Amino acid sequence: MTDLKAPYGALAYFLDLHPDVGDFKTDVLTGLAQPQKSISPKYFYDECGSKLFDKITALKEYYPTRTEKTLLLSSADEITAAIGARSAIFEYGSGSSEKVEWLVRGLEDPVAYVAMDISKDHLIDSATALADALPVPVAAICADFHAPVTLPQGGFPQPKQWLGYFPGSTIGNMLPETAVQFLDRASQTLGRNAKFLIGVDLEKDKLVLEAAYDDTSGVTAAFNLNLLQRMRRELDAVLTLEDFEHFAFYNQKKCRIEMHLRAMRPTTVAIGEQKFVFLEGETIHTENSHKYSIDRLRDLIEQTPWRLNHVWTDPKNWYAACLLSNN
Ligand code: TRP
Repeated sequence: MTDLKAPYGALAYFLDLHPDVGDFKTDVLTGLAQPQKSISPKYFYDECGSKLFDKITALKEYYPTRTEKTLLLSSADEITAAIGARSAIFEYGSGSSEKVEWLVRGLEDPVAYVAMDISKDHLIDSATALADALPVPVAAICADFHAPVTLPQGGFPQPKQWLGYFPGSTIGNMLPETAVQFLDRASQTLGRNAKFLIGVDLEKDKLVLEAAYDDTSGVTAAFNLNLLQRMRRELDAVLTLEDFEHFAFYNQKKCRIEMHLRAMRPTTVAIGEQKFVFLEGETIHTENSHKYSIDRLRDLIEQTPWRLNHVWTDPKNWYAACLLSNN
């Protein structure tokens, strides 16, 4: 069931695709029963986790947010010129929609901004607030970006082209094969002659990478360990928090930061009747953050209908803003 109407303040439309937000208990029980124990990173973002994540983005060690912002703002004229006139923007995982204003204001005759996010209340709040602030119609779609989405017609004039927008290097949190599927689906959603602006974190010194995911003030550790607290709060899990530590390292072979929760000594986690035994050093894998070179990124994109048209990087070559087109 979908509802296509405009009841939410000034939104041109709100479409609820009722995304599957997952079941924490089922997923934890399944994940902990695997040989390599794992929990999906989507469970990081409860209220406490979302606050910790906001703190991460402001840490001195965590360069991506800051680097991306400076890069987009300093290249804004070139980027918006390369995108072209009368575009409608579709943002994947829009969150607080904090990263779109420069784009709307820089583009020639933009037609609309459509925010998509899995978290409904947050989406409605931020899109509604943005509708007042932006000089274009704003719409919102509650959906999971790993599921198909069809853009509704109407609510605003037909754009000349759709522009997908996916900042934050979130594509790096997908396995490369999942990123290919995501790009395939985005090409279908956005239609012919579309463009796609993506933020991608690049390969760099291992020490810089590892510091970004294991800061000295322990915020990233608290963010990761919050998963265990959440298991206690919501699933009545019986576990000793002090037996686990945050563990982040750069996996050179797979070109990715891996985050784990590591047992510092033999321990167990009990959820209801189920007991999960941990040997010393055994981990729960909680997140990947892939780092690309431009060449590996191009190889990945060429497995999809998209082509890499332009790349903008910061002076240190730490981060890339990539403009793709599928025509
Ligand atoms: N996509 C960003 C990154 O990988 C943000 C992010 C996602 C993140 N999950 C994270 C940052 C976990 C720190 C820890 O860097």
